[in-house]
Amino acid sequence: MSNPTPVVIANLKANKTWEEVSAWLNEVGKASKDFKGTLIFCPSYPFLASAKEKIDRDSINIKLGSQDISKFEQGAYTGEVAASQIADLVEYAVLGHSERRKYFNETNEDVLKKVELALSSNITPILCISDMSQLDEYLGKSNLLKENSDKIIFVYEPPSAISGGRDYKPDNPEDANNNAQEMGNKIGKEITTIYGGSINPDNVNSFFSQNNIEGGLVGQASVDPNTFLQVLENAKI
Ligand code: PGA
Repeated sequence: MSNPTPVVIANLKANKTWEEVSAWLNEVGKASKDFKGTLIFCPSYPFLASAKEKIDRDSINIKLGSQDISKFEQGAYTGEVAASQIADLVEYAVLGHSERRKYFNETNEDVLKKVELALSSNITPILCISDMSQLDEYLGKSNLLKENSDKIIFVYEPPSAISGGRDYKPDNPEDANNNAQEMGNKIGKEITTIYGGSINPDNVNSFFSQNNIEGGLVGQASVDPNTFLQVLENAKI
C-alpha cells in the first residue's frame, strides 16, 4: 500500500530561469490542489522571493525550500546565504546533499552546523544521508539529530543512485526500505524518512509502497513539469 500523504520534493538543482520556474509553478500548481501529501519545491535562491509571491497570490498548494544554506550566520561571507535571510521565504532546506559534498567539499561538521542554523531559523532540514556510516559519523559527533529528529526530514539517498541528469540508476526499493528502517533504528525514534535517487514516473510507486519510505526527493524527473506531474500521479497508485 502506498503512503496516502507522501512528502515529494522537487530539487531543481541549478536549472531554469525565472520564466521557466514561473511556468513550472503554473503547471504543477494546477494539479497540486488535489495532491494529498506535502509538495516541496526547491528552485535556486534568486527565485525564492518571486516564487513565494506567486504561490501566495495564486493559492498554490506547494511549500518552498532552498537547496542549501550557509554554515555561517549573517556576516562577511561573500556569496553565501544565511538561514535567517531566507527564513521568511522557505519552510525547508535541503542539506548535506552529496553534490555539495562532492563539488564544494562540504564536511560532516559543515552539515551539522547547517542543520543547527536551519533549526534555529525554524527551517525544516531535509537532510540527505548517503549511507549508514555517514549517519553514524553524524551521530558520533553530536546529539543534534537525535534531539531534533521530529523536526527533520531524513532522506536516504545513495550517491550511486543519483541520475546525474542523464540515465536513471535507482537503488533497489527493498534495499532502500531496509536502509530507511535502519536510519530510524539508529536515531532510536519515529522519524520521517524518504528516498532519493533516480525516482521517475515508472519506479516511483515501487519506492513509495515500501513501509519505511514516506516520499521522495526528485531531481531529474522534477525539471520538466509534465514528468513531475506524472511522478505525482503514479505515486498515488
Ligand atoms: P535524481 O536526483 O532524481 O536526478 O537522481 C536526486 C537528487 O540528487 O536529489
